[in-house]
Amino acid sequence: MVLSQCCAHPRFALWVGPISPVNYRNGRFVHTSILILNGPNLNMLGTRQPEVYGRETLSDIEHACRAHASWRGLEMDFRQSNSEGELVTWIQQAKGHYAGIIINAAAYTHTSVAILDALLAVELPTVEVHLSNIHQRDAFRHHSYVAKAARGMICGFGSHGYILAIDALSRLLGDPGVASA
Ligand code: DQA
Repeated sequence: MVLSQCCAHPRFALWVGPISPVNYRNGRFVHTSILILNGPNLNMLGTRQPEVYGRETLSDIEHACRAHASWRGLEMDFRQSNSEGELVTWIQQAKGHYAGIIINAAAYTHTSVAILDALLAVELPTVEVHLSNIHQRDAFRHHSYVAKAARGMICGFGSHGYILAIDALSRLLGDPGVASA
C-alpha cells in the first residue's frame, strides 16, 4: 500500500497501490466512480457505417474503457440508450453517485437542449466524446449542445477517444498520474 497523496489536494486521497484513488468524502472512504453514457444507434457499432465509426462494437469499447478506467483507479458504469429521456434521467441520477461524466450523445449532441440542461443542472465535470470528427462531416453535425456543458471535447480518434476521455476526466478529478498541460 502506498500513501502518496494527502493534504496537497482539496480532496484527501488515499492511494491503494500506484493508481487506485480512494477518496475521503463525508466521513468515509469511497471509490471514485465515473459514468460513461452513449446515445442512439451506438448499440449498432461494428456494423453501422464501419467506414465512419470503425468495426469495434460498443461492447469492445466498454471492455477497453473498463480496463483503462481500472488502471486509472476509477470505477466505471457504461450505458447506452436510444431514448433521450432515459439519458436525461441517468444524468440527473448521476449527481451524488459519480464524480464525472463522459458522454457520446450521438445524434442528440446536435439536437438536445434537454441533455444540455441536465448536464448543466448536475454540474459534474463532463467530457464529450465522438468517434468521428464531427467538424469534417455534415454541417448539421458541427454544432454540439453538449459542448456548452462539457469541459472539453474529443472527436475524430475512433474508439481511442474514449480512452483519451478517461484520461482527461481522471485529470479533472485530480489524478496526479495524468500529466498536466
Ligand atoms: C457520433 C457523431 C454524431 O454526429 C452521430 O450522430 C453519431 C455518432 C460519433 O461518435 O462520431 O451517432 O456521436
